Amino acid sequence: MKKQQTRILLDIEEMPRNYVNILPYLREPLSPPINPATEEPISPEALEAIFVKECVRQEMVSDKRVPIPDEIREGLIRYGRPTPLQRAIGLEKALKTPARIYYKREDVSPTGSHKLNTALAQAYYAQKEGIERLASETGAGQWGSAVSLSCAHFDIEAMIYMVRISYQQKPYRSTLMKSYGAKVVPSPSDLTDFGRKMTAENPDHPGSLGISISEALEDTLANDNTKYTLGSVLNHVLLHQSIIGQEVMMQLESVDETPDVIIGCVGGGSNFAGIAIPFLSDEKFKDVEYIAAEPTACPTLTKGEYVYDFGDTAGITPKVKMFSLGADFIPPKIHAGGLRYHGVAPIISALKNEGRITPKSYEQTEVLGAGILFARTEGIIPAPESAHAIQAAVESALEAKRDQEERVIVFNLSGHGHFDMEAYGALMDGQLGTVPKLEGLALEQPQTVSAKVGGE
Ligand SMILES: Cc1ncc(COP(=O)(O)O)c(C=O)c1O
Repeated sequence: MKKQQTRILLDIEEMPRNYVNILPYLREPLSPPINPATEEPISPEALEAIFVKECVRQEMVSDKRVPIPDEIREGLIRYGRPTPLQRAIGLEKALKTPARIYYKREDVSPTGSHKLNTALAQAYYAQKEGIERLASETGAGQWGSAVSLSCAHFDIEAMIYMVRISYQQKPYRSTLMKSYGAKVVPSPSDLTDFGRKMTAENPDHPGSLGISISEALEDTLANDNTKYTLGSVLNHVLLHQSIIGQEVMMQLESVDETPDVIIGCVGGGSNFAGIAIPFLSDEKFKDVEYIAAEPTACPTLTKGEYVYDFGDTAGITPKVKMFSLGADFIPPKIHAGGLRYHGVAPIISALKNEGRITPKSYEQTEVLGAGILFARTEGIIPAPESAHAIQAAVESALEAKRDQEERVIVFNLSGHGHFDMEAYGALMDGQLGTVPKLEGLALEQPQTVSAKVGGE
């Protein structure tokens, strides 16, 4: 008989002391980043012009474990780690599924998502190297908030280029970043040559992550003692996120559970990697189904090509081998701003190429519908990005119901949606179309809510 527990906690001392590095566990060595001009692998020295040195070292590190400095552990603990793993009892009941569903609470960090895990690490390494200013981009605002708090924590200046459409959709995100002391501008901005060029071409440019990255890079190269910090895609970012999966592994063990399915949403790939890497690095979990959930509006893993491509739109970054929709692809203005990225992490791309992960794509309406279902059954309004993982978990739980199969499903709740009310409001007002019906659902469909409030 399994121990039934709704909220599985760890002691502070159990917070991981090492990062898990997936590189030695890949079947083939990862293709290196290349200089677009020469097509030769790029040197660490060239990368150090942009990135903090320790992050560049961690990009290529071959050790299976990388120690976490005490200063980073203390920061992570101060801001809420280890995070709970929660059993989705309410969701299970509503779906009438025999599956047991667990979710990892990355939404409980003060900035609202998993992004703080790597932002704190990168800010710490920057401070240690005497860097005084970090520049970065943000889509949904989760990454920018994490950078802003981490810079405040380690006494560094933060400069954030926020994708214009998200800046407009989520004004309170920029207020939060500014509260932490960061400078925030909508991108394309008038602070960089590339931003001015984009605005001249299209005065109403919605922006994209690729453009904001180009602006932050141009800023980094133009300003003294400034480095660029990236919230996803790169190996060192995925490495820092591996604390998530290590905690999940201990938490599942403590209630005598073994996962059958592990799910994360995928923008650049860091939260999915964070939950999956420790399991993917352990033979014991080779039969787990690893589902990478992405939007149909930006179907990088399901429809992209595996090529060398730029990480940004202007072509400033080295080229990396990844699934990509093309560096000039501007995704439609979906509400999951953090998933509007043309590429995906080289590590995730290699795992897909090795057939070790299963990408699935979902429509915005079904995803936000799953978000509302989650709010009603679990009480948490998820980030639209995280709602992709919820939709994948719902789908898997309904499959288990059809097959009358006990299945343990674990997904990463990468963030909360407290700043995403415009998305959920638009859904419930019927502006985004009809939410597809879920078979045998014990709850009303979200689109009926506004009719009830306004009408009866
Ligand atoms: C809550 C949340 N989840 C997921 C993502 C996607 O990023 P990644 O794939 O790196 O986890 C973002 C990015 O902004 C986010 O804010």
